[in-house]
Amino acid sequence: MTSIKIGIVGLGRLGKVHAKNIAKHTPGAELYAACSFIEEELEFAKNELGVTETYKTYEEMVDSLNLDAVVIVSPSGFHPEQIRLAIEKGLHVFSEKPIGLEIEDIEKTIEVIDAHPEQIFMLGFMRRYDESYQYAKKMVDEGQLGELTVVRCYGIDPSSGLESFVKFAGASNSGGLFADMSIHDIDLVRWFTKQEVSRVWAIGKNAAYPELDKVNELETGAAMMQLEDRTMAILVAGRNAAHGYHVETELIGTKGMLRVAAAPEKNLVTVFDEHGVVRPTSQNFPERFSEAFKNEMNEFIACIQEKRQPEVSAYDGLQSTKVAIACQQSVDTKQLIDLDV
Ligand code: NAI
Repeated sequence: MTSIKIGIVGLGRLGKVHAKNIAKHTPGAELYAACSFIEEELEFAKNELGVTETYKTYEEMVDSLNLDAVVIVSPSGFHPEQIRLAIEKGLHVFSEKPIGLEIEDIEKTIEVIDAHPEQIFMLGFMRRYDESYQYAKKMVDEGQLGELTVVRCYGIDPSSGLESFVKFAGASNSGGLFADMSIHDIDLVRWFTKQEVSRVWAIGKNAAYPELDKVNELETGAAMMQLEDRTMAILVAGRNAAHGYHVETELIGTKGMLRVAAAPEKNLVTVFDEHGVVRPTSQNFPERFSEAFKNEMNEFIACIQEKRQPEVSAYDGLQSTKVAIACQQSVDTKQLIDLDV
């Protein structure tokens, strides 16, 4: 079978991770082209990853007749237009989350995706491809926890990433804390419960990093949600975990409860030294979800080869973004927001 030739757009914090995975850990795929505004990133793609074609503009890259698919890892506001452009050029598309920042734009994009059912579209909700989340999902689907009553999620970036985040948020619109961070938790809530969110109340506070006020971002936010069947979800999102990258999920059901990564452990090592008994902590998203990022890219390629759509759809992107926008609206208006589900 000939390999699937991929063009990647965006070689920043996450783009480099995807680019390396495609080049080195995705059998059946070839990282053929790369696009970035930044010359050093294109040099890296050519020299370190053996990319054949490099581009400064996305429009030029999708015009290349050599590509089968694109992987979109540009800032979030660009996703919808870049998805539409690639689909209309006949390419398969993997796009990072969120699918977009505005509902109308996303709906327009879904129309284009739906009009080309033979092309694969996949959204980067990589937690669904993490071994622990898959284990938990199987337990829930088999009814081992009974009926779910509460889902509690923490998604907190490390304080050490704050400087690079302020740069990222200053250079492009992240969509805010809920669209940028909680979107993964919102997707997990929908995935585990198979329910839509019908009502949200969200609040936030900037304490350690008031400079985030200037870029209109929240350091810490919390949301309480009611789902269609009255299951409850509680989210905490933040950018200031002093100990590392803290992603934790708790599912409470009528027959039991489970926690995924109750402590964000790096591995199975416990250190006993002058600091006491220490469990090293996962430090950032590429580390914690290293395997999940590889798994999702392998799934994208398998879907292209086997001509089937992946489980994560553009519709999941739309629904989760609606909830994230409602959370932001709740913070801004101090109101409880009802969603049309
Ligand atoms: P970044 O700011 O580090 O990198 C952005 C890259 O896009 C740079 O290479 C820049 O040159 C390029 N770029 C910017 N505008 C462009 C345009 N119009 N055309 C072509 N290239 C353009 O951003 P980062 O952190 O890598 O985030 C990128 C996307 O990945 C965002 O949508 C973000 O939400 C998502 N992301 C997802 C994560 C996950 O957990 N799945 C984690 C981190 C980011």
